[in-house]
Amino acid sequence: MDDRTPEVAASGFTDHVLVCTTDRDEHACCGDAGAEAVLTAVKQWLRERDVFWSNVHVAETSCLGLCSETGTGVVLQPRGRWYAGVTPEEVPDLLAEEFGPEVDRLGAGVAVE
Ligand code: FES
Repeated sequence: MDDRTPEVAASGFTDHVLVCTTDRDEHACCGDAGAEAVLTAVKQWLRERDVFWSNVHVAETSCLGLCSETGTGVVLQPRGRWYAGVTPEEVPDLLAEEFGPEVDRLGAGVAVE
């Protein structure tokens, strides 16, 4: 095991956006509710502010327990925010509300040692 916590923290990473892209047949799933478009919208919003993969990491995930027929499950960590039914059109307002319109509120919830 290689504890890379100090290295990651020193790199400026502060936040993680998890976007569920699960596709399945037996239950409602984000894959059928626009997950790929939500993922694209998240990346675009962060790229436009020059924080994608510098300060904010984005990961596609399997089911987050936020399943909906109307949108995608999105989780923001370490701030511990959980959203269900997110549509691509809602992504800019969601991220602006959480991170600040100019991403000046990154790092909420990060443990300080
Ligand atoms: S299928 Fe996406 S949260 Fe469950």
